[in-house]
Amino acid sequence: MAKIVITGGEVLNGEVQISGAKNAVLPILCATLLADAPISVGNVPHLHDVTTTMELLGALGAPLTVDEKLTITVDPTRTISTVAPYELVKTMRASILVLGPLLAKYGHAEVSLPGGCAIGSRPVDQHIRGLQALGAEVVVENGYVKARCDRLRGGRYSFEMVTVTGTENVLMAAVLARGTSVLENCAEEPEVVDLAHCLIAMGAKIEGAGTNRMVIEGVDRLSGGHYDVMPDRIETGTFLVAGAITGGRVLARRTRANILDGVLQKLEDAGAHINTGPDFIELDMGGRRPRAVNLTTAPYPGFPTDMQAQFAALNCVAEGVGVIKETIFENRFMHMNELMRLGADIHIDGHTAIIRGVETLTGAPIMATDLRASASLVLAGLVAKGETTVDRIYHIDRGYENIEEKLGGLGAKIRRVAA
Ligand code: EPU
Repeated sequence: MAKIVITGGEVLNGEVQISGAKNAVLPILCATLLADAPISVGNVPHLHDVTTTMELLGALGAPLTVDEKLTITVDPTRTISTVAPYELVKTMRASILVLGPLLAKYGHAEVSLPGGCAIGSRPVDQHIRGLQALGAEVVVENGYVKARCDRLRGGRYSFEMVTVTGTENVLMAAVLARGTSVLENCAEEPEVVDLAHCLIAMGAKIEGAGTNRMVIEGVDRLSGGHYDVMPDRIETGTFLVAGAITGGRVLARRTRANILDGVLQKLEDAGAHINTGPDFIELDMGGRRPRAVNLTTAPYPGFPTDMQAQFAALNCVAEGVGVIKETIFENRFMHMNELMRLGADIHIDGHTAIIRGVETLTGAPIMATDLRASASLVLAGLVAKGETTVDRIYHIDRGYENIEEKLGGLGAKIRRVAA
């Protein structure tokens, strides 16, 4: 199993190009199934989860091609299978996102339940209830969600909690339903908005994307075309924290500041100087040690749970005490114990972590447990004295394109080694 080895202590300085957003490209690739003509998707990040989604679309019978710029063209016009098998779904929970499109277009779908997940139990009851509100019959049998309908009809559904992929699944189903659907308590995440914009470009009629209430006027068919995926706000935030934690300067290009408001505010609270333009964010820490920040994760526009682990790493070496509360997932503190192995002073009380900044962390072998946890361990390794080896690095390849090359370009001493 590959590992990442970091020799800490370098102050990062330079520019980094931000890739397309993982959590936007996955639903958008699934949405291509809804079209009745070939559709191409650009600004696709080179990630393991993207490969898994391509395999899934291929298994469903939708031929796809990838060009040298990683633009993916999907041809969803052939008769395809409507069964998403466990072997593919178990490796990536986002596979559940083919449920809504397959059901809406073909009147039936069988998608394996994703199964356990390191960060929490993550049920899909809201996906199912939303589809039922559009007239689908849904049963859970033999580990599969089995859904059928003649044609979905417009309906009204209020999500019981804010769910990103739940909102996306029901939205993708509603665009081809007969009549008007009203979805309430929707997720407002920028990735949901990006999906809605892609669907609108395909001919869908959606109002209210980016608010908690969406009104969808069903259409009979969606066309193909081309859509470019938005920048990855979590990758952007991770590189900005890399600049802040090392006291350095990082200019993130091909990204947008307006999708990172809460994160930029916390970086300023930590003492960073932030300068933004239409497609860049520059963070300058001016050699200073960061100040500890308090944060509570919440659905957008609140502080993203996907940035919690990275700020935990920042707090570990900051001046003062930072309190972090995780409210979205019940088990998303697994990086804390690994950070303690580097010498961090962390006290955990339920879903709250109290982190007292220390002057120095010291390198050690540590283990990645999930995607964002692994990012936080790499960040801590950047400042830990000596060598830090992060094992189980496959987690990071699910969501970060060439992280060691990009950090290396900023001056980090980082390399990947085969096991
Ligand atoms: N939930 C339910 N029932 C449902 C759906 C969700 O109880 O039917 C609960 C979940 O268990 C969780 C909360 O609602 O406690 C929110 O979960 P949500 O459904 O919003 O999460 P998700 O859609 O499965 C997406 C991202 C995650 C990100 C979360 C929260 C994708 C592919 N994944 O997951 O990204 O953490 O939203 O913002 O969009 C990551 O990129 O590392 C990652 C985990």
